[in-house]
Order: sequence, then C-alpha cells, then structure tokens
Amino acid sequence: MPSLNDIRSTFLNYFGQNDHEIVASSPLVPRNDPTLMFTAAGMVQFKNLFTGVEHRDYKRATTAQKCVRAGGKHNDLDNVGYTARHHTFFEMLGNFSFGDYFKEDAIPFAWNLLTREFGIDKNRLLVTVYHTDDEAVEIWKKAAGLPDDRIIRIATDDNFWSAGPTGPCGPCTEIFYDHGDHIPGGPPGSPDEDGDRFIEIWNLVFMQYEQMEDGSRRDLPNQSIDTGMGLERIGALLQGKHDNYDTDLFRALIEASAHATNTDPDGPGNIHHRVIADHLRATSFLIADGVLPSNEGRGYVLRRIMRRAMRHAHLLGAGDPVMHRLVPALVNQMGQPYPELGLAQSTIQDTLLSEETRFRQTLDRGLRLLDDELSRLPEGGELPGAAAFKLYDTFGFPLDLTQDALREKGRAVDTAGFDVAMQEQKTRARAAWAGSGETADAAIWFDLAERHGATEFLGYDTEQTEGQILAVIAGSDPIKTAKKGEAVQIVTNQTPFYAESGGQVGDTGTLSTATGKARVIDTRRVAGVVIHFSEVTEGEISSGSGAVLTVDHDRRALIRGNHSATHLLNEALRGVLGDHVAQRGSLNAPDRLRFDFSHGKGLTLAEIAEVERQVNGFIRQNAPVTTRIMTPDDARALGAQALFGEKYGDEVRVVSMGRADTGKGSDGQTWSVELCGGTHVAQTGEIGLFVATGDSASSAGVRRIEALTGAAALDYLMGQDRRLADTAIALKSQAADVPDRVRALLEERKALANEVAQLRRDLAMSGGAAQDAPKQVNGVNFVAQVLNGVSGKDLPGLIDAQKARIGSGAVLLIAAGDRVAVAAGVTDDLTGRLSAVDLVRVAVEQMGGRGGGGRPDMAQGGAKDATNADAAISAAETLLKG
Ligand code: ALA
Repeated sequence: MPSLNDIRSTFLNYFGQNDHEIVASSPLVPRNDPTLMFTAAGMVQFKNLFTGVEHRDYKRATTAQKCVRAGGKHNDLDNVGYTARHHTFFEMLGNFSFGDYFKEDAIPFAWNLLTREFGIDKNRLLVTVYHTDDEAVEIWKKAAGLPDDRIIRIATDDNFWSAGPTGPCGPCTEIFYDHGDHIPGGPPGSPDEDGDRFIEIWNLVFMQYEQMEDGSRRDLPNQSIDTGMGLERIGALLQGKHDNYDTDLFRALIEASAHATNTDPDGPGNIHHRVIADHLRATSFLIADGVLPSNEGRGYVLRRIMRRAMRHAHLLGAGDPVMHRLVPALVNQMGQPYPELGLAQSTIQDTLLSEETRFRQTLDRGLRLLDDELSRLPEGGELPGAAAFKLYDTFGFPLDLTQDALREKGRAVDTAGFDVAMQEQKTRARAAWAGSGETADAAIWFDLAERHGATEFLGYDTEQTEGQILAVIAGSDPIKTAKKGEAVQIVTNQTPFYAESGGQVGDTGTLSTATGKARVIDTRRVAGVVIHFSEVTEGEISSGSGAVLTVDHDRRALIRGNHSATHLLNEALRGVLGDHVAQRGSLNAPDRLRFDFSHGKGLTLAEIAEVERQVNGFIRQNAPVTTRIMTPDDARALGAQALFGEKYGDEVRVVSMGRADTGKGSDGQTWSVELCGGTHVAQTGEIGLFVATGDSASSAGVRRIEALTGAAALDYLMGQDRRLADTAIALKSQAADVPDRVRALLEERKALANEVAQLRRDLAMSGGAAQDAPKQVNGVNFVAQVLNGVSGKDLPGLIDAQKARIGSGAVLLIAAGDRVAVAAGVTDDLTGRLSAVDLVRVAVEQMGGRGGGGRPDMAQGGAKDATNADAAISAAETLLKG
C-alpha cells in the first residue's frame, strides 16, 4: 500500500519524467496575490505566468502545493472533523503548462497516471466537461475510450474554474471515482450528487481567459493547463479507504493525539482526534511560513484554528497542553518533503505551548459561562450575540469556536447580534481615542483602520509582495489618482514595508502598478494602518488598483544587521557594566546604530574593548535568531529585556539570539532575549562585524554608544588602520610604536617650547633698550620696550627681570605679536604713589584696547594692534610726569 509520501513522489516524478520542472511549494502566505488570505490552489504561485506578465525558463511545471482553506473566500473550517474530506490544510498535486501543451496532452497525462501508474480501475472512473467543450469530449473518448454515458456535460460554474473574481480562468474537466453502489449518492449533475458515492479526484483546468476587473474576459496570450488533485483524497482512494482521515498520515497523527490524551483513537473522541490532526497540520505549516497568532488578519485565522483544536483537546479530557506534543509526529510524517517544518519545529512547539497555556486559563470559565447562558435559553434557542461577544472579548473564544461548541448541542449563535456588539466596542475605542488628545489629522487613519482593519505586515518573511491600494491621500484628503511628481501617502491591505518603530527607521522602496510607479521614501504606522510616504515617479497611481511593493533590499539588510547588533550590544553592556544597564532609547538606521542606556560615567577603553569583543564573539557564533509571541509576563519570566516605561499589549514578540551557558530563555542557554517588533538577521553571522565609534553622555545618568556593523564597520576600521599606517610613515616608525612615539614627541615638544620661551626672554633681556640705562621721568627710572617674538605669558618674567635690574622704577613692556599684550611693573618702593594698573590702562587705550588688570606692582592688558606703541609709551610717560 503506497503511503501519502509515496503517492506524492510518484506524482511529481511522473510529471518530472514528462519534462515538467519539479517546483517547490510556495509559502502559504501568497506574495503575488493580495486578494488571497492564504494560498488555496497550486496555480497561485504561477498566476503571472498564465497571464504572460512573468516568464521563467520552463514551460511545464509540477508541484505539491501546501494549501489552507480557512478564512477568506475558501473556508472549510466549520466542516473539519465532521466530514470525510474537509481539511483546513491540504496538499494539492498539480501539473501546469504555460503556453506549452493543452487539452490534447493534459487529458492523456492524467488518464495514464491514474490508470497505469496508480493502477486505478478504469471502469470506476467518469468525467465531467463544460457543456460546450466538444473538444474535451472527443479527447476523452479517444485517449481514455470512455463511453458517452461516462462523460457528463455540466453547464454550471462547477466546470468553469477561475482563480478569483479576476485573473486566469477557463473551462475544466473533472475526474470522478465511483466508490460503488453500496454507498449512497448520484453522479455529478444529478440531484443527489452530494452523496459520497462519486468523489471528484482531479480537476483539469484549460486556462484560456483572463477575467478583468471591468467584468470583461480576454484571451490569455497562450492556452495553458492548471490541474489540481488533493493528495489526501487520492491517497484515501489508493489506500482503499473512503475517509481521508483513515490514510496512513492521518492515522499516525490521530494515534499521536490519542496517545497524548490517553484516549482511544477510535472511541467516542474520534471526532476530536480528527479535528486535532487537521488543525495540527494547518497550525504548524502556517507558523513555519511565518504566521504567528494575533488578533488581526491571518494571525487571527491561525489563532482560531489553534483554539478550536485546543477546545477539542480539552473535550478529550486533556489536563495539560497537548498540541505542542504532537509536533514531532507531524515532522516525522511530513518533515522530509517540507524541510521548513523541521527548521521551525521549536518555534511551532513554543508557539503552541504558549497559546494553549494561555487559552486554558480562560477556556474552562468560558465554557461554564456558555453552559449558564444555554441553561437560561428556551429549548433550541440561539445564543444571544452579546453572550458570544463576551466569550470573544473576555475569554478569547473566537466566534467559530463558540459555534463549534454549540454545534454539538444543535444550537446556533445570533451572529448579527455579535456583529453589533463588536461594532459598539469599536465605536467606544474610537471615542476613547478621540478624547486622548491625538491630532485630528489622525482621524483619517482611524477611518481607514475601521473600514479595512490593520495593514498586514509581511515584512518579517519577505521584501516583496503584491497589495491592493486602499487609499491614496494627498495632504489629508483621499484622492482617486496621483500623477507623476505628486507626493502622496499610500495605504495598502498588506505590505512588506516596516513602519518606523522601536528605534528602527521606516523602510524605503518602490510601489508599482499597471499604470505607474512611486518611490516610497518613508513608512510609518498610525492606528494599525501602515502609511507609505511616496512620490509618484512614473505615470499615475490610483486607489483600488493592485500594486507590487518592493522594499529596498540593501538598505533593509543594513538595518537588520544594525538592529540585531543593538540587541547583542545591550546584553554585552549589561555583562560588562552590570545589571543596572537598561535601554533608554535607540536608533537603528541603515548606516549606523545608536544605543542610549542608563549608566553614570563614561566607559573606559578597556570596557569598550570588552563589549566589542563579546558582541563580535556572538556574531561569529552565527547562531539563529528566533522570534516568539507570548504574554509580557511569560517574556519577563524568560529574562527578556523590555523598554523601561513602555506599555505592552496582551502579547509581545520576543526576539532571542546567541547561545551562552550562563544565558536565559526557556533553555537557560540563550544570550539575548528582548521584547522587540523589529526586523532581524536570520543568523547572527550576517551582522559581520561590530565596532563602537563613540561613547558620550546623552543626558544625566544616560550614556550613548554609537556603533557600526558589517561593511561600514570594516570601512571604518580600515580607514583607522590606513591613518595609523600613514602616521607611522610620517613618524618614520612602526604602527605598533606610534603611541609611544607620539608621547615622546609631545614631551620633546613641551621641552622645546620651554626652551624657546626661555631663549626669547633671554633675547628680550639682552642688548638694546633692555640693557640701556633707564630713562628718568619725573625722578623715576622708566624702562619701556616693544618686543617682537615674545608672547604675553613671557611678559611677567621679563618685568621682574627689569625691575631687578633697575632696582627702583617703572617698567612698560609691549609684546607685539598677533595679539598685542601689554604689561607694566612698579617696584615696591614706588607703589605708594604709582600703580602698574594705571600704566597699563593708559597704554592700552592708545592701542585700541580697554581696561587692564592686576596689582599696583604688576598689571597686564591686551590691545588690538601695536602700531601706536610709541604713543602708548608716551602716554605712560605723561602719567609718570603726573
Ligand atoms: N486550480 C484548480 C483547482 O484548484 C486546479 O481546482
């Protein structure tokens, strides 16, 4: 009996041997179709190949595509567990032709695979075709020898497949398997076609048209093929089962669930095991593809699936969280074809454990409330919307979980009443916001948030996605179209652009539509709405159109490196300086990082070196960087660093990196654990290199470290090294000797400067006026001299020398350099009637200066220029003359 894994391989190899490229499944979150919540068919990743917008170097492809049908247009959630063939997660096997072969090959390919490779009895197969497709009927007759009564013409949309309201589409032919007349049900197209006897196993779509937004349909550039066969269904058939949940893969998961809950896999709890098995797959694959539980968008669909499974585990009587214990069984079954599952195993387990631990805290109380409410209702009455809303709002019961719980009791919920209660809550939130003093400008963003919900951020996992433009805002007015040159703010339903937050700057990049292009120069978020500040650079951009949003990759990579390095720096500082270090602010820009933290004094060179050494050690460790969602309390219990004074919501994102024996985290081995919403490297090695370029005081008690990483750090260090080498050459020494050489030179320079000053003084005292007999003015010895090449600070020494030489008298010295300095001295015997201060004052006045200060025996002053030095000396003489 072939396993599901065998069947998948047989399918892919069959088409591989027929010249099809075996292409890996695309992620569950589609990058190329903003109208889809999740990838729900194999053709999603090839949409643009059908329409001719994109070309690849193959024209035939085959895939096993991960699909989720829960939330959005395709939603099978409600039926899972209760039917034989509904799943939230399934694999779609497909073969594709992009303008290569068409019907005449697609039909024989399928027929041969089913009847020869898989060995299915041809007499049990029948097909449907679109009612006007005579060509397909003929091919079926020729290739498969099917008689007319087993080729059923269907006139409805059942045999006309389209990707969505717009996009590639065409008539299709579906292959059915007849399980035999012991099972009730009629052939397709008959009144009882919904019975279980005739099961559709494969849909072959003849892609021919593109459905346009205006309702028109145009021919595709090339006729193409898109097929889809659910692996679980064909698996059941080939394993001789009627129910997908009886296949080997599901059986293994159901048994794991039974084992973990210590219950019988086939007992009364069987339905719960089926739900758990299905939801385990959807949950794990979604988390592996980067979706984390949240209260918005895709994250909320994930949460709904998780909680639904958790309630079923609870119904099985499980006392402790169960779901995370089943992940190894899933990885065992599916980890080989889908390696992403194994890589994300610990994230999946942690996320499940934390969600289940939390939900269990309210699940019991919520279920009791539900029972109370029901006991008050009349027989069969609907649960009032307000009660369902209370379960949602207070106990974390998604609406469909409540509906699922009531289904067992044959009851329903008043969903209209639920919607009213939800709307009232939003109105209250808005009123509270309006009263909070936020600017009126923000009203426009709140309107958008209310109409469309928060913008979904896909930028943790991708730098390019398609999105739908929800609004184009010029100033604060919504406009329909912005033209080239206009600066506008653009809002889309989803985006890879990171909005400035937590010190990380907003992303830049491009946004392009069929009619134009815009440059995104900054990204911010208000009320959950991501605003792309843009300038239209080509054509025009209109609200309502689809757009491709592309983040500047290089810039984002630099920002990531800096942000992750900031986390390592934070931890290293705590290690080196002490636990009092707490983050006070940060900047993570493409070209640098800055980190402000509480610490009283500057860092020593040795401390900075130790911090750099530690950060670079963790970079070289190249450990993976992981993210988890948990409650703030759980995060703190793991030792996570949080921003002082910051308000956190119910849930926080926790980023961990680096391994250390003395670390923290759930394993006690994680070096850095921080609450953070930013984007990070996948492995610390991507940071490359870290260097601190500055340590300064940011404010009282707060230090600021500036640093560089990666190529910028290398450039910086190489620049420093070049300057050092240059300096060594200039000093005619070796780089290693530069500090000693410079110190020695400075010493030498100081000694020389002293020597020069002494020589100048000696020179000033030698010969000429300095040695002449003093002039007699009013009976007082008076020496006056203009000195060149002597600085002001030499003057006091020279005054003393002259006073000593003349014994008694007055001295006036003018140093005529760039700055004119004047000094006067009066010997002690004369200070009773003469003041040096007055001498300086009258002298500087002549030279454009003012004032002067000192004592009667010695005073100094300054002036602008020495051209009037003679007049200054005369003025002093006049003063002496009294
Ligand atoms: N795209 C087709 C489907 O999903 C094959 O059924």
